[in-house]
Amino acid sequence: MDTLVSGIQPTGRLHIGNYLGALRNLVDLQDSGEHACYYFIADLHSLTEPFDPKEKHRQVLELAADLLAAGVDPERAVVFPQSLVPAHSELAWILNTITPMGELERMTQFKDKSARQAEHINAGLFDYPVLMAADILLYEPKFVPVGDDQLQHLELTRTLARRFNAKYGKTFVEPKALLTKTSRVMSLKDPSKKMSKSVPDGCLFIDDEPETIMRKIARAVTDSDATLVYDPERKPGLANLLEIYGALTHLAPKAVAGEFAGTSYATFKEKLAVLASRHFAAFRTRKKELLADPESLRKILAAGAEKAGTIAQKKIDEVKRQVGLIG
Ligand code: AMP
Ligand code: TRP
Repeated sequence: MDTLVSGIQPTGRLHIGNYLGALRNLVDLQDSGEHACYYFIADLHSLTEPFDPKEKHRQVLELAADLLAAGVDPERAVVFPQSLVPAHSELAWILNTITPMGELERMTQFKDKSARQAEHINAGLFDYPVLMAADILLYEPKFVPVGDDQLQHLELTRTLARRFNAKYGKTFVEPKALLTKTSRVMSLKDPSKKMSKSVPDGCLFIDDEPETIMRKIARAVTDSDATLVYDPERKPGLANLLEIYGALTHLAPKAVAGEFAGTSYATFKEKLAVLASRHFAAFRTRKKELLADPESLRKILAAGAEKAGTIAQKKIDEVKRQVGLIG
């Protein structure tokens, strides 16, 4: 059985783009029974963006509830917060010493985030990809399920593995990215932009209540020509809604358009809203139940951290021996 590692930052509620682009894939990979899955909450990474310390722990628990409510099963996948496994930070430090500044300066995510938070360009933001490499390399995964925005970080991870092996002897395996098939979900308010939590108005959150889903989809930006066809170039707003419908029903967006041909946008939007509320009905209930019992969530996370910690500790000990820190 091969190993998979993936992490998600705890920074707030998940939207349907996060679900279709990442979370659902993690659940499917776990359910296939073909992989040992390590799914962690990247709480250390999340400190690189402005946050409220009073909120952080709640965000970690909320993401844990999201993962479990969506179908991640702690009996079959190891679920844990990164900060409870110190080997992540230790390996990041050691990898720092073989990472040229120039390679980090080229990272597009660093450039984007620095532009967005000009008043808070911290060393952690710069070093983010090295911690990510450590997260991955500790568990020797064959695959890392990520969105295409993370490909550059994964390439750096592979480079660091190769460089470490060349310098200190074979220690790490080079992982490959496992890209999710679903294309990008666009904002409901502006279909030229990716759905993103930085513009909450354009997001359909997966724990939104049915009334909210109805309202948001009814108001989603489309176009004034009322012909219902799948045409991403000329009708990007409608195309985005057809893609969401298709992703939830495992149909091609063109086939969805065919099914609704001749009906009005309003009819289609209503059906999509009903579909989305039903799709996430069990999720909403389960998430509320899980969040009502934070102590149980903490226990699940601690148990996951213990399992992950055993594997990670072996690897960091090996690394320290290779580097000459321990004899
Ligand atoms: P973020 O919180 O933006 O870092 O996203 C977490 C995960 O969700 C990453 O794997 C992204 O690739 C994925 N993701 C975020 N936004 C979207 C979107 N609008 N469409 C598809 N996937 C997304
Ligand atoms: N950087 C990833 C993101 O923003 C999150 C992440 C941190 C991650 N460490 C990881 C993903 C290790 C995969 C593997 O989506």
